[in-house]
Amino acid sequence: MYESYYQLDEPPFGSTPDPRFLYRSQGHREALAYVAYGLFGKKGFLALTGEVGIGKTTVIRAFVHAFHPCLEVAFVLNTNVNFEEMLYLILQDFGIDVKNTSKVMMLTTLNSFLIQKFADQQNAVIIIDEAQNLAPDVLEELRLLSNLETDRQKLLQIVLVGQPELGQMLAKRSLRQLRQRIPGVLEMRPLQAREINEYIRFRLRTAGMRNGRLEFTPEAQRAIYDYSAGIPRLINQVCDRVLIRGCLEKKTRISGDMVEAGVMELQGPAPRWLSGDVREASGE
Ligand SMILES: Nc1ncnc2c1ncn2[C@@H]1O[C@H](COP(=O)(O)OP(=O)(O)O)[C@@H](O)[C@H]1O
Ligand SMILES: [Mg+2]
Repeated sequence: MYESYYQLDEPPFGSTPDPRFLYRSQGHREALAYVAYGLFGKKGFLALTGEVGIGKTTVIRAFVHAFHPCLEVAFVLNTNVNFEEMLYLILQDFGIDVKNTSKVMMLTTLNSFLIQKFADQQNAVIIIDEAQNLAPDVLEELRLLSNLETDRQKLLQIVLVGQPELGQMLAKRSLRQLRQRIPGVLEMRPLQAREINEYIRFRLRTAGMRNGRLEFTPEAQRAIYDYSAGIPRLINQVCDRVLIRGCLEKKTRISGDMVEAGVMELQGPAPRWLSGDVREASGE
């Protein structure tokens, strides 16, 4: 929409967890360090929690992207499943052709696969996103799965990623055996107020901005922080909205008032001008 006006190669504030756009805030660095410690230290189980839109999936994808030569990863995104279905999804994502879907056969197949990966010095990892939706009995079976080990070390690492409810679930007494396996649940921290400007500039640069043409005033940064509480998805939303307007009004300096107007729009019904021909107005 406004990319050409601000001379960007692509949308800077998209909503996908693209690892290229990962800004290493203090909170995100902590999360990356936790995952590295757990996986390479073969801790067996990890749990990463945080509010919706804080960057959990982005952090995990960026980690896998950076270390993929030495990782063998199965990503499970569908968590409303029973354990057999979960096993099937895991095997499929490991690239195994599942011929027999009986639980015993799937477990045997997984075990041989893990032994092979261990021999190849690959780290096998199962990442379960939106894990707050897992049924307690599925979590319990996952714990048993992580028992697969050689005399010397674990064959499999499992990373649970989910909303803060996941932390509450794991604190339940009935799941204490699983909880004891986890070296502390890491609750991700949002961006701090002073990181907002760097975050925005980083995303703009990644989207191709080479000149310093676009500027967010300190008041604008403050208003973005007040609206988003440092949650990247909300920062993206408001920045996107403000830049659409900025482009229509031919502004390269984004003020606090412009952000506040953008926030009002996000909180109210869609404004009429949004459905108008923004392309025309932006000169595309
Ligand atoms: N550290 C970060 N740097 C850049 N963008 C981020 C960061 N964290 C999150 N985002 C962006 O915020 C949005 C939501 O991130 P996502 O990983 O899907 O959140 P979650 O999985 O916690 O709901 C995505 O557009 C993502 O690119
Ligand atoms: Mg996510």
